Amino acid sequence: MDLGLADRTVLVTGGSSGVGLATVRALLDEGADVATCGRDADRLAKAAAHLGAGSDRLFTGVCDVRNSDGVSEFVERAAAHFGGRLDALVNNAGQSRMKPLDETTAEDWRDELELKFSGVLNPLAAARSYLRASDAAAIVNVNAVLAKQPETRLITTSAARAGILNLSKSLATELAGDGIRVNSVCLGLIDTGQWTRRHAAADTGLGYEEWQAQLAADRGVALGRLGRAEEVAYAIVALLSPRASYITGTSIDVCGGVGRGIL
Ligand SMILES: NC(=O)c1ccc[n+]([C@@H]2O[C@H](COP(=O)([O-])OP(=O)(O)OC[C@H]3O[C@@H](n4cnc5c(N)ncnc54)[C@H](OP(=O)(O)O)[C@@H]3O)[C@@H](O)[C@H]2O)c1
Repeated sequence: MDLGLADRTVLVTGGSSGVGLATVRALLDEGADVATCGRDADRLAKAAAHLGAGSDRLFTGVCDVRNSDGVSEFVERAAAHFGGRLDALVNNAGQSRMKPLDETTAEDWRDELELKFSGVLNPLAAARSYLRASDAAAIVNVNAVLAKQPETRLITTSAARAGILNLSKSLATELAGDGIRVNSVCLGLIDTGQWTRRHAAADTGLGYEEWQAQLAADRGVALGRLGRAEEVAYAIVALLSPRASYITGTSIDVCGGVGRGIL
């Protein structure tokens, strides 16, 4: 099936690694032009080299999604690069905060809420006028199943994720009049830099594969393994596609069946 993304322009935040990088690759494969950002210029340059797309198809810029001026400048440069056009936005940049309540400071709460909310609201504010002008505008917010099943070891992230799921629903209603669809993907455990860093920090003596298998078993992942970034990317691309024109305000769990809730 032709997903209708060829020659569309999509902005993906946090495209230098993991889910963002896989999403950029999947969109380029569909014929879309892609703009992406991250905080680290070297990591972005390596990702661009790895993707092998020319600057006519891929635009990269350094910015932190928490900085509204920086995001605004990045979005303006990206739109200008692609002829003043942006059709879709993937709010993906971010990371989780592994701390239980008693280790969590007031600053942790503030930082986590700022990252999660500004990671959606800053790109939206900067891209909204361009999205409004598109005839097939879509936003996908990359969220976590933590939004629906909080984990106490990730207390700030779980609470912030629930807020983002709620916000996504409101945005779907608010932006429908602008012709902009808004959906979410809720991730379980996906094998990306987040988990390689945790494996290194855990220093268990287990190899990465063995550690992952144990993790999946401990967390009750029905499919018995961590997900792959491209498995998330396919869900994001499907939601961005104009073929999904009647889907808004919903979320898709990409989590290998972790958890027992029916939500
Ligand atoms: N992997 C999982 O199991 C999992 C589960 C649930 C939810 N998620 C969510 O999925 C999204 C992608 O995570 P991932 O696993 O693919 O992580 P990752 O491999 O660490 O990639 C994160 C990407 O976001 C960028 N980034 C991080 N903070 C940023 C900021 N403040 N401003 C701009 N760019 C920023 C990173 O580049 P720089 O570091 O250079 O900025 C990188 O490109 C995140 O929002 C994460 O919380 C992941």
